[in-house]
Amino acid sequence: MQAVLEKQPLKELDEWDDFVATRYKQGKSEDEFRNYKPDANPGVTEFYRQNHAHQTLDFVLKKKAEYCGLTRGKKSIWEMAEYLNTLVDDSDPDTDLTQIEHLLQTAEAIRKDGHPRWFVLTGLVHDLGKVLCLYGEPQWAVVGDTFPVGCAYSDQIVFPEFFAANPDSKVPEYQTKYGIYQPNCGLDNVHMSWGHDEYIYTVTRNYLPEPAQYMLRYHSFYAAHRHGAYKHLMSPHDEQMFEWVRKFNPYDLYSKGRERPNLEEIKPYYEDLVSEFFPDQIAW
Ligand SMILES: [Fe+2]
Ligand SMILES: [Fe+2]
Repeated sequence: MQAVLEKQPLKELDEWDDFVATRYKQGKSEDEFRNYKPDANPGVTEFYRQNHAHQTLDFVLKKKAEYCGLTRGKKSIWEMAEYLNTLVDDSDPDTDLTQIEHLLQTAEAIRKDGHPRWFVLTGLVHDLGKVLCLYGEPQWAVVGDTFPVGCAYSDQIVFPEFFAANPDSKVPEYQTKYGIYQPNCGLDNVHMSWGHDEYIYTVTRNYLPEPAQYMLRYHSFYAAHRHGAYKHLMSPHDEQMFEWVRKFNPYDLYSKGRERPNLEEIKPYYEDLVSEFFPDQIAW
C-alpha cells in the first residue's frame, strides 16, 4: 500500500521512453551510456528507485492474477487507443507527441521500410498496455526496463544498485543464478517485472503471429535484447525470436523525431489493417 502513496516521479510517462532513447543514442559508447549520473535526471532516477524496490515476485504474481484474466470488459483497438490518449500529463502539447501519435509514428516508420502488415500493426498497438496507468497503477508498475523476478538480477539492468531495497534480494532462493527457474527453461516460464509489455501481450496474443507476441512482450527487456543478459534462462527458440525483438526496437526508440502523422490521411489504411487481424472488440 505504501508504494502507491509514493509521489509519481515522472512528469509524464514518456520521460522514461525518452531516457531509454537517449541511453541508446546511436554512436554512444558503451561507457557513456552506462554512466548515468543519478542527479542528471532526478525524476528518472527516483522512478527506477521505486521500480527496483517494489517489483517483487509476489507483486508480479498479484498483478498477473489481477489483469491477465482480461476481465475488464471489451473494447476495440481504437477505443483503447482513444482511452490511452486521455492520459494527460504535464507535457508541452506543442512539442510532445500524444500517445496515439507515438504509436502511429512507430507504425509508419515500420511501414515505410516495407515490413509485413502484422509488423506494422505491432507498432500500432505496442504501447496500448500503458492504460494500466489509467487503471490506477503507479508509474513504476507500467513503464521501465523489465527484468526477470525470482532469480538473481543482472548487472546489465540499469541502476542495479537500487535492487538492494527490493525485499526479494533478502530471499536467498531468489538470488541464485537460476532462482526458481530451470536452466534454459524458456522465457514463457519466467516471470518478468510487471508493466505495459506483459499486459498488451496478453490482450493481443490470440490475434497476432508469434514474432509480434515476442516484440510486444519483451520490448522493454533491454538487459536481454540490447545487452545479451539472461541467455541462461532463454531457450534456443527464444534466442531466434529475439531477432524480431531487436528488429522492432529501433522503430520504438528512433521514430520520434519524424514528422507528425496526419491521422485523417492514414486512418483508412490503419482501419483496414486493424480489422484484418482483430475482431470488432477484444477482452481487456
Ligand atoms: Fe513501450
Ligand atoms: Fe513505445
